[in-house]
Amino acid sequence: MKKILLFLTAAIFIFSSGYMANAIHEIIPSETQIPEPGADAEKLNDYIIKYNPYRAWAMWPGKGKLYKAVEPHGALLTTFVNNTAYYSIKKKKGMPDASIIAKENYSAEKKFTALTVMYKVKGYNPEAGDWFWAKYRPDGTAEASGKVKMCIDCHSKAKDNDFIMTSKVK
Ligand code: HEC
Repeated sequence: MKKILLFLTAAIFIFSSGYMANAIHEIIPSETQIPEPGADAEKLNDYIIKYNPYRAWAMWPGKGKLYKAVEPHGALLTTFVNNTAYYSIKKKKGMPDASIIAKENYSAEKKFTALTVMYKVKGYNPEAGDWFWAKYRPDGTAEASGKVKMCIDCHSKAKDNDFIMTSKVK
C-alpha cells in the first residue's frame, strides 16, 4: 500500500510539474507580444514585475551583481536591461524605443533601497531623450516618476550618450 501511495505521489508530482511548466510558458509570452505599459508608473511597475520580470533579463554587459557605484544611487547596484536595450548597447547607436533599464540600488550593507528605471517611450519627451523616469520604493510604490527634473538634470551630463551614465551606448 505504502509503495503504491509513494508511486502515485511521485507520478502526480511529475505530471503536475510538467503541466505547470507548460502553463507558465503559455501565460508569459515573449517580450514583443506583451502590450507596452506606456508612460505610467504603476503600469510600468506591473510590466517589469509581473509580465516581463526584469530579474530574468540580462545584466548590463560587463556589470555583475552588486557592483560598486558612485553616488547618488547607492553604494552597490545591480542593473538589468530588457532585450531591446541589451542589443542596442553593442550597436552603439543610442537606445531605441521600448528600451528599459531597471537598476536595483543597495546600501553598502546590501540592503535593497530602491529600484530606478529608465524607459524609452516614443515622443514622450524629445528634449530629454524620450526617457520616462521612475523611482520605486522596495514595496513597489512610486516615489517619483515621469519627466523627473532631478533625474534629467544630472543625467544631462551624458546627453551625448543618450542620457546614459553606466557606459558608452553611442
Ligand atoms: C546626481 C546625479 C544623478 C541623479 C540625480 C540621478 N542619477 Fe541615475 N545615474 C547617475 C550615475 C552617475 C549613474 C551611473 C551609476 C554607476 O554606474 O555608478 C546613473 C545610472 C542610472 C541608471 C542606469 C542607466 C544609466 O543611465 O547608466 C538608471 C536607470 C538611473 N540612473 C535612473 C535614475 C532615475 C530614475 C533618477 C531620478 C529618480 C536618477 N537616475 C537620478 C547619476 C544620477
